[in-house]
This record gives sequence, C-alpha cells and structure tokens, in this order.
Amino acid sequence: MNKKRLQLGMIGCGVVGTAVANLVSDSTLNSFNEIVDLKSILVKNPTKERTNLLMTQNFVSDINKIVEDDEITIVIELMGGENPAFDYISRCLKSGKHVITANKEVISKKGSELVSIAKHAGRELKYEASVGGGIPILSSLSNDFSANPIQGIRAIINGTTNYILTRMDNEESSFEDVLKDAQNLGYAESDPSDDIEGTDAVYKLSILTRLAFDVAPTTSDIHKEGINGIKQKEFRYSRELGFTIKLIASAQKRSDKLLLRVHPALIPKEIPMANVNGAFNMVEIDGGLTGPLWFQGAGAGPNPTASAVLSDLMSILEGRNRIDQTIVNNHTELLQLAPMDDYRCRYYLRVTVNDKAGVLAAIATILGERDISILSVLQKDTDSKLKHADLVIMTHESKEKNMKAAVSEIKALLDVINLDSLLRVEEYS
Ligand SMILES: NC(=O)c1ccc[n+]([C@@H]2O[C@H](COP(=O)([O-])OP(=O)(O)OC[C@H]3O[C@@H](n4cnc5c(N)ncnc54)[C@H](OP(=O)(O)O)[C@@H]3O)[C@@H](O)[C@H]2O)c1
Repeated sequence: MNKKRLQLGMIGCGVVGTAVANLVSDSTLNSFNEIVDLKSILVKNPTKERTNLLMTQNFVSDINKIVEDDEITIVIELMGGENPAFDYISRCLKSGKHVITANKEVISKKGSELVSIAKHAGRELKYEASVGGGIPILSSLSNDFSANPIQGIRAIINGTTNYILTRMDNEESSFEDVLKDAQNLGYAESDPSDDIEGTDAVYKLSILTRLAFDVAPTTSDIHKEGINGIKQKEFRYSRELGFTIKLIASAQKRSDKLLLRVHPALIPKEIPMANVNGAFNMVEIDGGLTGPLWFQGAGAGPNPTASAVLSDLMSILEGRNRIDQTIVNNHTELLQLAPMDDYRCRYYLRVTVNDKAGVLAAIATILGERDISILSVLQKDTDSKLKHADLVIMTHESKEKNMKAAVSEIKALLDVINLDSLLRVEEYS
C-alpha cells in the first residue's frame, strides 16, 4: 500500500522538543499509514549544538518558514510561554494547520481564543501534554467522564514542588537547601518562581476546570498560595499529627458554585495523595457516578510529555473520532465562582509566643469569638533563654473568612511574637 507523506513543523526543540523529534524520526510511527517527516523546526538559536538529537534536523529562525509552507499540515509547539507562542499558534491555525501544544501557560490564558480560532479554521488544537505530562488526563476528562456530572477535581499537578516537599518531609532539610539541590539536579528551573509560587498549578487547574465544568477562569479567579514560606518545623509537627504537606490544586463544586484554589495543605497520611512522592503527579476526579478516581504518574520529563504529544499527533493522523478537547463535559450547568472566604476546613496554626500563663487563653478567646473551636494544642520547642514557645493549634472545621479575621487579631496580641504558619487541612469524606 502506498503511504502518504506527511510533513510536520515544530516550534521549539528543548527538553521536550528533542524527545519528540527523536520519536517522530523513529520508524515505528510510519505504521500509521503515513510517513512522517519533521520538515522544519523553529528555534531561538539555529546554530546551537544539539548533541541529544538522533537525526540531523532542519532548523529555522523565522516562523514564516513554517506558517507559509503549505506542505506542513501539523505544527507541534514546544516553545512555552504566552508570547510569541500565542501569535505563532494562531497563525499556524489560520493558515490551515492543525496544532499540538504542551504549553499550559498559553492554553490557560488564551485557550478560549485559540479554540475559537481553531474552530473557525476547521482545524484541531490539541494540548494533552499541557497538564500531567504523561498522564492521559485531558482526553479521559473529555471522553470517559461524559456520563458523569463531575463534582470535583483535586490534584498534585506540579512535580517540582512535590519533589521539594517530599524531600523536606523525608530529610528534614530547609526549603532553601532543597530548592538549590533541585535546581542542580534539573528538577527545578533556574527561575523557579512559576512552580514554587503556585502559578504553574494555577495554569493547569484552569485547563482542567474548563474541560470539566465549562467555566473558563482567569488566573486571578483561582486562590493561589505557593510553598516558599513553608518551614521545616511544619513537616515535623504535621508528621506527629498524622499528616504530610502537599501543594494541592482543587476545583470543587458545591450546588451551583465552584471554588478554585491552589495552596499547600496538610494531607492525612492514610490518603493515597499523601503517598505521591518526588516529581510524580496525581489527579483525583470525582465523577459523580464513578466516585473518586485517581490518575497517577510522571507529570513531566521528556518521554512522558512526548508520549502525550505523540498521542495527540496519532489521533490527528488516524482521524480518531475522539471528543474534541475543546468540547466540555456536557453535564455542566451555569456555575458561579465562589470566593475563597466561603471555604471551610480544619486549620493548622503555629504561633511563637512568650512562654507565660494566659497566652493560650487569649488566643482561644479570639478563635472562640469567631466561632472557631480548637481541636488540639501542642506546646513545642520552648526556648528557655528567650522564654519563647511554639504553639501548634489544630482547629475544628471553620470558615476561611473567620480564620482570616482571627489571624490578624492573634498577630496583634502583645505576647504573640510571630504567627509563623497557617495551613489548611485537606478534607476527605
Ligand atoms: N520539560 C517538561 O518536562 C515539560 C512537561 C510538560 C510540559 N512542558 C511544556 O513544554 C514546553 C517546552 O518545554 P521545554 O522544557 O522543552 O522547554 P525548553 O527546554 O526551555 O525549550 C524551549 C525551546 O523553545 C525555543 N524557543 C524559546 N523561545 C523561542 C522563540 N522566541 N522563538 C523560537 N524558539 C524559541 C528554544 O530554542 P533554543 O533551543 O534555540 O534555545 C528551545 O528549543 C513548555 O510549554 C513547557 O511548559 C514541559
């Protein structure tokens, strides 16, 4: 049988691009009734030495070499960032090419616009690799939950922060030391702010939310706290209380409201998510009919991410009749976004206080006035020289708005040296 020849363009050839280029150039892809040629790759620096590439490739530095090449019918964008990726993807779609991308930032910020450009052009926009690396979570959400009114998504979706938190828990090292090590080992970028401040998780949560709930949140609609303020002591005390700490991304439906949040949280040790370690990811989807289902695996890295990119490529090549990733779960109703102030959970507080009588009573009074009752108190690390002590307080389930108000009053108490930590406990029914 004569095989058709298909020409691909690629934008970016770094960590993921190199893996994709090597796999595309591998003959196993040719079993898909088409011979796939990687015709042109746009990079920043076409003369850079690229020792990990198995085959010689044609590098270009002008996007028009791809956009205006009518032989190229599919473009894979692996450059990252919002701009110029948005411009390049739009131009490729408008010139009649299908586009596959791993770029969570551009899909999170400009996804709706790109989807509409793709629809208008009658072309496909696929982005499985933008969330969860090798975990096939977006196609599962789009295809396999269609009978389900999705109730909630809860996930560990940033490998860098999970790697840092796991090591802080296992080794009793400081955040700063583990971050430095993670950068040396390639688990964290030289500018790690998007990861450690929770921005990367916000991008991914917004993509999941759009597919699951037909709500397109902006990044500022999602409550965000990173892991950079977390101290080693929190791991020690949490462990004693039966918890570990993870960066959680959650979209939770309560009647007609949806609450979106990314923040570090205490997870009970016996919950599967507490045992997702290192750079691994886990996405929990509560499908309504299915109950909670867990998807776990490598959330990043060249081969897992390339796997997701290639599965998008194969689905275009085969014309597979998948439900388009742009079509959302059809059980959604009009959902309003709930403010974080409405959230309810148990709280963990660590307060450095003057070690003297009456301080705990003063804190308990403030909490009580805000309808927050104390579940347990540990007094730790008394410094006999400074006459300071750590109070570790666990509360019963309380309202975020009340806790915020109580915290500012506690901070103002004369005998409170510092409110070192306020963490939420993730609730599992
Ligand atoms: N790394 C992962 O494990 C992973 C996992 C999931 C998703 N992703 C996503 O995959 C995408 C690629 O990530 P990566 O880690 O492979 O990135 P990377 O290693 O930094 O590679 C970026 C590539 O884009 C090229 N590039 C950058 N700016 C450009 C510009 N203005 N014009 C043309 N080319 C430009 C670079 O060219 P030069 O080579 O000449 O510098 C490089 O080849 C990102 O969207 C990322 O979020 C990555």
